[in-house]
Amino acid sequence: MAAVASSTPASTVRRTPLIAGNWKMNLDHLQAIAFVQKLAWSLKDAGHDFTGVEVAVFPPFTDLRSVQTLVAADKLPLAFGAQDVSEHDSGAYTGEISGAFLAQLECRYVIIGHSERRTLHAESNEQVSAKVQAALKHNLTPVICVGETAEDLETHGPSAVPVSQLRAALDGVTSAADIVVAYEPVWAIGSGQAATPDQAEQVAAQLRAVLVEVLGEDVAAKTRILYGGSVKAANIAGFMREPNVDGALVGGASLDLTEFASIVRYQKHVGS
Ligand code: 13P
Repeated sequence: MAAVASSTPASTVRRTPLIAGNWKMNLDHLQAIAFVQKLAWSLKDAGHDFTGVEVAVFPPFTDLRSVQTLVAADKLPLAFGAQDVSEHDSGAYTGEISGAFLAQLECRYVIIGHSERRTLHAESNEQVSAKVQAALKHNLTPVICVGETAEDLETHGPSAVPVSQLRAALDGVTSAADIVVAYEPVWAIGSGQAATPDQAEQVAAQLRAVLVEVLGEDVAAKTRILYGGSVKAANIAGFMREPNVDGALVGGASLDLTEFASIVRYQKHVGS
């Protein structure tokens, strides 16, 4: 593998940090409306600069129309996206959701290849890659999730599996696409045991090297790489100090308004 980002402009390019909340299967559409409204108000009250740190939420599919309506009506400075997308555009695929539908709902992002889909729904690297293509086709920014299990970590070390998953996900992607990569070690998800900032940085740097190789230096330099796995207000600042970590994909803590708002406002934390 080529040496990492030292030869790339990655550390010199300014990427807008992204703090994203993956709600998973939590909050119905009424709860979503209340939550998003309160989140936007509380961040505005705190004087949050949304252009300095972007905030996105990923509610369940059934909430998206409500969130879209609220965001548009109140002109809230929040982005939103879906947690998955079909690789197909339309047709006899019961239960699937087309990227075309998500685009109509003004979703900006879509999470693809989350480890819960890879393990609980046996999603393959090929499907992940097809979904990335589908997202790009519909002008949705894919948030491509990669990460190793505890077993992978023991057998292959930290970066081998995430690197191969990212390579596979980008198979066939050639253009200067807008993408986001989320490094989420499976052992850190929901466990309360986050990776260390140094561990996250090491893998993020390897992932950026893959981006350089596949999409070129310019795209790699502007692509945001998030860390996910037991992120909370108490540990976010450490991750954000790392040069190749450009934000976080937050699960459990994104459902707690005060905690999530505090994660978003990590720049105000001690030492950051
Ligand atoms: P937790 O923050 O609950 O560990 O979940 C991380 C995650 O899976 C986000 O996609």
